[in-house]
Amino acid sequence: MAHMNQKCAAWVIDLLEIQPNDKTLEVGFGPGVGIELLTKAALEGYVAGVDPSQEMVAQARARNATAITSGHVDLRYGSAESLPFEDNTFNKALAINSMQVWMDAAAGLREIRRVMKAGGRIALGFTPYSGQQKVGLSDRLAAAGLVEAHVVETDTGFCVLAIKPRPDEGQMQSNIGTE
Ligand SMILES: C[S@@+](CC[C@H](N)C(=O)[O-])C[C@H]1O[C@@H](n2cnc3c(N)ncnc32)[C@H](O)[C@@H]1O
Repeated sequence: MAHMNQKCAAWVIDLLEIQPNDKTLEVGFGPGVGIELLTKAALEGYVAGVDPSQEMVAQARARNATAITSGHVDLRYGSAESLPFEDNTFNKALAINSMQVWMDAAAGLREIRRVMKAGGRIALGFTPYSGQQKVGLSDRLAAAGLVEAHVVETDTGFCVLAIKPRPDEGQMQSNIGTE
């Protein structure tokens, strides 16, 4: 299962097309395997994460100790529903096998939208046995104000991708609904 999770994390990170300077957020990082992969992809960027489990934060901090010391990585206690970051901070955000256990997924998605920059990309990945339903997933992201939401799938699992709209794009989306 650990191998499957790592493979899913690598796949989702690939889908996000992380650039060396990206500022990336992982929500629900667990033992920090995804964070470790992100630091290798965003070599000159910044990687932050939140997880509400003290045990997971301790494990992830130990796994990424060198990158934390150098200021490349910042791992905090916290939950999706109340992210401890400023508005418009990140240009990539992801969560792997996590949204299905959030107390309030709609609030978590709105929070991710808030902390992302306009044009930033979000990817939520799930392994086949995560318990997350594929049906309605894109609609949940759209309801949180994200655009171009769509699901992609491989034998590793499935992933919903979306974008935080630029202000003019958000207006266009709401006009489409009223015409
Ligand atoms: C199944 S684990 C997945 C961990 C990691 N992403 C992975 O793929 O190995 C789910 C993670 O979500 C975290 N989590 C639970 N509730 C959360 C919430 N409300 N906000 C953010 N993360 C949460 C858990 O503590 C746990 O680390």
